[in-house]
Amino acid sequence: MAVCNTGTAIQYAAMLSYQHSYHAGNHADVLKHIILGDLVAGMQKKTSPLFLFDAFASRGIYDLRSPEALKNREFDTGIGQLWHLRHQPKPEGAERWFKLIGANNTGGGFQHFPGSTSLFASMLRETDRLAACDLHPQEFNMLRHSFNSSRRLALHKRDAFEALGALLPPKENRGLVFIDPSYEDKNEYKKVARAIAGVYPRFRTGTYVIWYPLLPAGRHNDLFRELKRSGIRKILRLELDCHNCFPDMQMFGSGLLIINPPWHAQKAIKASLNWISDSLTEGKAQSCFNWLVPE
Ligand SMILES: C[S@@+](CC[C@H](N)C(=O)[O-])C[C@H]1O[C@@H](n2cnc3c(N)ncnc32)[C@H](O)[C@@H]1O
Repeated sequence: MAVCNTGTAIQYAAMLSYQHSYHAGNHADVLKHIILGDLVAGMQKKTSPLFLFDAFASRGIYDLRSPEALKNREFDTGIGQLWHLRHQPKPEGAERWFKLIGANNTGGGFQHFPGSTSLFASMLRETDRLAACDLHPQEFNMLRHSFNSSRRLALHKRDAFEALGALLPPKENRGLVFIDPSYEDKNEYKKVARAIAGVYPRFRTGTYVIWYPLLPAGRHNDLFRELKRSGIRKILRLELDCHNCFPDMQMFGSGLLIINPPWHAQKAIKASLNWISDSLTEGKAQSCFNWLVPE
């Protein structure tokens, strides 16, 4: 019991020490938000209601002129690099993303940078639902400030791992679950895989999207190993290794594992991935789009 409490306290402290505002708009956010949009759009090709679950939501909208964002200017590796392309032809995923940024910045520019919850909220149809969850008191307050709870949008100040068990399976029986932790605690890679393995048998039809960073320690391999061991099939791996393009950043790339990727989204995802790679790194990045575990 004492060990368990200590572990929980350490995890809580790690969670409190992370704020996405320092990283918002960077190359990883570009990848995750554009691809998430493609996935939701692909799932919405069917008219039946959809449940979107943003389990690690953060604050929804980031101020890129805040002291946190300006500290390391990570957005220079992402939206800052791409902004000049906003009026040029691009794949539908990037088009959608620029439109969303425009809608959040009616006076122009990209100061108010939309995060995952903004993206999901902007794509909700009348019959869809969104649940967004964050445990950090400050992030949750900002989330509540930016979004009104409604029949279609529920905000939860609760532990995401606990919420996975509580909110799944959704009554719609169709949904996308987005897992985007901070990985401040090195054990979180395994924890994520085990949490998904635990909930998957109750919601086998769900699409699960797990974001991971590429860092020198290579801990994302723990996530891969645990997921392979879980017996879950149909896991798509999509990754952008930017390698030497952003030498000031430890995180040299990122990826998404997508369990049960919607068939209708795959063409759009490939187009987005190629566009991001070419536009962010002049094609120097290595991208990967293959099965971690096939059907
Ligand atoms: C990487 S950020 C999320 C970014 C956001 N998804 C986006 O794309 O805009 C991770 C967030 O998860 C929250 N978090 C970390 N551990 C959590 C937990 N166990 N339960 C709920 N929220 C957690 C953190 O407070 C942080 O705001």
